[in-house]
Amino acid sequence: MTASGFLAEIAGVGRDPKRGGYSRHAFDAPEHDLREWFVERALGLGLDVETDRNGNIWAWWGPPGRNAVVTGSHLDSVPGGGAFDGPLGVVSGLSAVEALQTNGFRPRRPLAVVVFAEEEGGRFGVPCLGSRLLTGTIDADKARGLRDADGVTFAEAAGKAGVDPARMGRDTERLDRIGQFLELHVEQGRGLIDLGAPVAVGSTVIAHGRWRFSFAGQGNHAGATLLADRADPMLPAAATVTAVRRLAAQVPDARATVGRLVPTPGGTNVIASTVDLWLDARVPGQGTPGLVAEISRAASEAAQEEGCRVEVTRESYSGDVVFDDALRRDLGGWLGGPPELPTGAGHDAAILAGFVPAGMLYVRNPTGISHSPEEFAEAGDVEAGAAALATVLERLAR
Ligand code: GLV
Ligand code: MN
Ligand code: MN
Ligand code: MN
Repeated sequence: MTASGFLAEIAGVGRDPKRGGYSRHAFDAPEHDLREWFVERALGLGLDVETDRNGNIWAWWGPPGRNAVVTGSHLDSVPGGGAFDGPLGVVSGLSAVEALQTNGFRPRRPLAVVVFAEEEGGRFGVPCLGSRLLTGTIDADKARGLRDADGVTFAEAAGKAGVDPARMGRDTERLDRIGQFLELHVEQGRGLIDLGAPVAVGSTVIAHGRWRFSFAGQGNHAGATLLADRADPMLPAAATVTAVRRLAAQVPDARATVGRLVPTPGGTNVIASTVDLWLDARVPGQGTPGLVAEISRAASEAAQEEGCRVEVTRESYSGDVVFDDALRRDLGGWLGGPPELPTGAGHDAAILAGFVPAGMLYVRNPTGISHSPEEFAEAGDVEAGAAALATVLERLAR
């Protein structure tokens, strides 16, 4: 089946009528359905399917073994995300395998399509959780204890999906099987629109991390409490939102975002007792922690001014990544010299790049918009991406 055909099969899964687009979160009902769908389709191609100790699914063409060629991405989304971020890499992997099978290709190396768990961190807060666990870049105890908005832990959710939480953590044997990892992904900016090309090779990923700012004040009555008597945590939270933009604007090429802010208890006539705010900060090179320190200072001053307290917790951080030089050179050669693109988006391939030769392919997104229902890829470009992936897998595995 074409990659577009596979995408069409899952187009109805996890639609979010309230936000628009898709909400498919790690181990929730829609993501569970997608995982089952993937297993079914992989079995249909004659692949051997296994779920690893960390909830990632591997579909093997030929016996699993070392020096494997591995491709894949994720099936979870951000809240109200698009149809392509994640699934495009998975369906392109399936479609490329099917095309190679149809052509009579027999891989000489083990070849696998993988689905990583909780790439977006949309449910448990830490992005690329499946690949971080696999590589040991997050402590297994920390991962097990991560909670979703309802207080369910990652261990509980994964356990319910059949993953034994006691066995989570660095999986050296599995990691040692990967000879090269390649992730195909929809582009999340305007790079390929401006270049007029359907497919690019990934060059770098900007350092990025997430921080939680917990402001605490005094919950109280909105009518009965004089302004002078308040300790309203919404004020330092609001000041922090504007400080994020002001301070980030002074750092070359920095990106910093507050996309989530939760007042508790959250009533119109209630002065909040606490406000939690999440900062996503990304600066090339070593600049991210310094920017976050400045933002934290501004938050702390604003909290003090209002008689509130603030606590800042780092939830995740990954440094700059440059994808494997030799693999990039090969990809460029085999694909007839496509452009190379840097990105500010994080990916499982960037986590794996610290351990195995890893690379990425991007497919043009004509809206230039991502993490939104408007994210898009034309069918022709989707097929160009899947064909490029098939070419590369064949070259690597022959
Ligand atoms: C994941 O898509 C990220 O870069 O936030
Ligand atoms: Mn994403
Ligand atoms: Mn993604
Ligand atoms: Mn991502």
